[in-house]
Amino acid sequence: MSGILYGVGIGPGDPDLMTLRAARLIASADVIAYPVLERGDSFARSIAAAHIQPGTPEIAISVPMSVDRAPAQAAYDTGAADIAAALDAGQNVVCLCEGDPFFYGSFMYLFARLSTRYKVEVVPGVTSVTACAARAGRPLVARNERLTVLPGPLPEDELRARIAAAESVVIMKVGRHLAKLRMIIADLGLTAQATYVERATLPDEKVLPLADAPAEAPYFSMILITKGADPWL
Ligand SMILES: C[S@@+](CC[C@H](N)C(=O)[O-])C[C@H]1O[C@@H](n2cnc3c(N)ncnc32)[C@H](O)[C@@H]1O
Repeated sequence: MSGILYGVGIGPGDPDLMTLRAARLIASADVIAYPVLERGDSFARSIAAAHIQPGTPEIAISVPMSVDRAPAQAAYDTGAADIAAALDAGQNVVCLCEGDPFFYGSFMYLFARLSTRYKVEVVPGVTSVTACAARAGRPLVARNERLTVLPGPLPEDELRARIAAAESVVIMKVGRHLAKLRMIIADLGLTAQATYVERATLPDEKVLPLADAPAEAPYFSMILITKGADPWL
């Protein structure tokens, strides 16, 4: 009997925002898997650390951060092969995913490689979008309003057009794109309606009007724009 692969959302950062199911699965896992950045740290592992039983074997999938997709694809191929070996040995593997696994989550690359051959269960998690809105005290959408989610790395022209046409806007992956995003939002006259959120729910969280945001943003940052005056009234 093959083991089961669990893709487990562990929330946006504060371990308290993990679901009971996620905590239970992590604590009873035969093997824990998670992505690591090239410099070797894993945000996902740090969120889940208290629930990982000492001695549990771990598969760290080293994912290069490059625009070229090929190196990351090769890393997911290797990670999927390591996970498949554990599943073939009848072990249950719990793959940690920051936020929700199917919302810009790297787990989907493992899901694509393994779900036709093995039983895979996806456990949803609190997304960074809902966490940032909660910490900023900004409802996201009301009634028939539409929410537009945009990645900051999109080209300037596309961002400008999509933000101009949108109602409520969330911009993810701000990081090194902050200066470009600030300029576009200012050009559209939306700076006063924009909130910057960095490392939401973590002890060093920042929630600021975009006008007061620092000059540089980390990867774990987001901008929320609400255009309606008070759409939720
Ligand atoms: C690859 S996506 C992962 C999204 C994640 N799967 C989720 O459900 O929220 C990474 C982006 O999520 C956002 N993000 C994740 N955690 C965050 C946090 N604690 N505070 C602010 N933004 C966060 C940032 O925009 C970051 O660039």
